[in-house]
Amino acid sequence: MGLYARYVLPRLIDLVMRNKADTAERAKLIPFASGVVLEIGIGSALNVPYYGSTVKRLYGVDPSRELWKIARRRVRDASFPVEFIATSAERIPLDDATADTAVTTWTLCTIPDAGRALGEIRRVLKPGGRLLFIEHGRAPDPGVEAWQRRLNPVWRTVAGGCNLDRKIDDLIVRAGFQITRIDRGYGDGPKLLSYLYKGLAEVRG
Ligand SMILES: C[S@@+](CC[C@H](N)C(=O)[O-])C[C@H]1O[C@@H](n2cnc3c(N)ncnc32)[C@H](O)[C@@H]1O
Repeated sequence: MGLYARYVLPRLIDLVMRNKADTAERAKLIPFASGVVLEIGIGSALNVPYYGSTVKRLYGVDPSRELWKIARRRVRDASFPVEFIATSAERIPLDDATADTAVTTWTLCTIPDAGRALGEIRRVLKPGGRLLFIEHGRAPDPGVEAWQRRLNPVWRTVAGGCNLDRKIDDLIVRAGFQITRIDRGYGDGPKLLSYLYKGLAEVRG
């Protein structure tokens, strides 16, 4: 791992992801989590302050130990146990039907095989379990989408593997979820990066 990926990128991610608009989105969605929660790409644990009193335990999956070092001080005050699992989400070392809620925020863009990771999330969720998501991805405007595709190879290199052009709702449905609520639209910031998919999905029976 190079110096940029080890020292610069984790601090940059923590800083950028603390912006006001994203924080407001977290505050709206994360309180819907309850029971045993599986958070994919826990990063620097910016969602943790928004989990409510019905959360019993949190498993945070993320390959980045550097981000977890930043996260540790944030999880110290949590009112539930938090277990960090240092791995990629395509293979989650938890039993089937362990979690009541799964959470992904600004993460499906980066997981190399997001479809496979969503399959793992579905396996680890209990029947009737819910997936809460806030993700950025492919914009509906052909002009914006064309630029997302064009810039993707360069962006992926500087942004730790992040892809600009994933169609998040299709990925979720293809993995066997039924989306029960979704809001799509541009948030703050450049259109290439700010088209958000926010919502809830359930394991399809
Ligand atoms: C833009 S950050 C978002 C962090 C956090 N979810 C948030 O909302 O602030 C993307 C996160 O995805 C994580 N990530 C990258 N590859 C991953 C993988 N294969 N499996 C799980 N998480 C991954 C990164 O380490 C990072 O924490």
